[in-house]
Amino acid sequence: MIQRITPAGAEHAAFWNELAEEYQTETRITTSDFHFGPLLPGEKELGLLPKELKGMHCLELGAGAGQNSIYLASKGAKCTALDISENQLNHGRKLADAEGLAVDFLLADLDHLPVFPKKFDLIHSAYGIPFSTHPEALIQHCADLLNPGGQLVFSMGHPVYAGEWLELDDDQGIFLQNYFHPQPDVREGDSSAVQAMAYPLSEVVAWLRKAGFQLMDLREPSSLPVDKMSPDEIEDRVPYYSEDWAEQVNELSKFPVVAIFSARKI
Ligand SMILES: C[S@@+](CC[C@H](N)C(=O)[O-])C[C@H]1O[C@@H](n2cnc3c(N)ncnc32)[C@H](O)[C@@H]1O
Repeated sequence: MIQRITPAGAEHAAFWNELAEEYQTETRITTSDFHFGPLLPGEKELGLLPKELKGMHCLELGAGAGQNSIYLASKGAKCTALDISENQLNHGRKLADAEGLAVDFLLADLDHLPVFPKKFDLIHSAYGIPFSTHPEALIQHCADLLNPGGQLVFSMGHPVYAGEWLELDDDQGIFLQNYFHPQPDVREGDSSAVQAMAYPLSEVVAWLRKAGFQLMDLREPSSLPVDKMSPDEIEDRVPYYSEDWAEQVNELSKFPVVAIFSARKI
């Protein structure tokens, strides 16, 4: 039973509960690498996480089925995977059980985080923070929940990807109405809808600095050329893949779908 939930959180719970089964069936999300976004290389190639994960106390925000937490648990980390959708978490519980790994799956609202008994060494999120109504406050909250020297690694929607892909007579590209106020990523279900927000990169960096973080890395990876890769190669190098995303490989090879931030609490 969830302790506290915001009105936006309740809408997100309804939407993601409805979508969870389809999302987890149609998206292949591996637990043998750590993913940051669709069609992108994972941690094996990007190398953004701490090198020694054994014994690390980790928290995942907007975890879905927590495949990233399961990956970290397989490396010896102690993981909590938090999400607003019970159906997403239930999928994760089954996955972790099947792999014989312990992950603490926690139903909670990222805009109303519970009190944790202990601080964390790593907080991470793959496209969970864009669903927060108050991402700046959430980043401050992450700073409060981390041990000194702890790391925050997360992907957010890239503001350029908020533009609309246009095919013109003899050219194609993104039409971006306003970089400083990107259009929300609106997702509609049968009976509910939610939106994820993108922000100018400098705004996110300013939130991090204000919260007492030192930015260690900022990546804008291009998608892997999945249209030219064999199924085995995709399985090995693309930790987050679906046929729907694969149809966008042309766009995603020219513009970044997410920005990945890695920051250390000073
Ligand atoms: C795009 S999915 C990403 C899930 C996972 N990180 C992955 O890569 O598969 C966004 C997740 O954020 C969760 N979410 C949305 N709003 C939330 C909120 N207010 N509190 C906690 N989780 C939330 C959704 O339930 C969903 O599982």
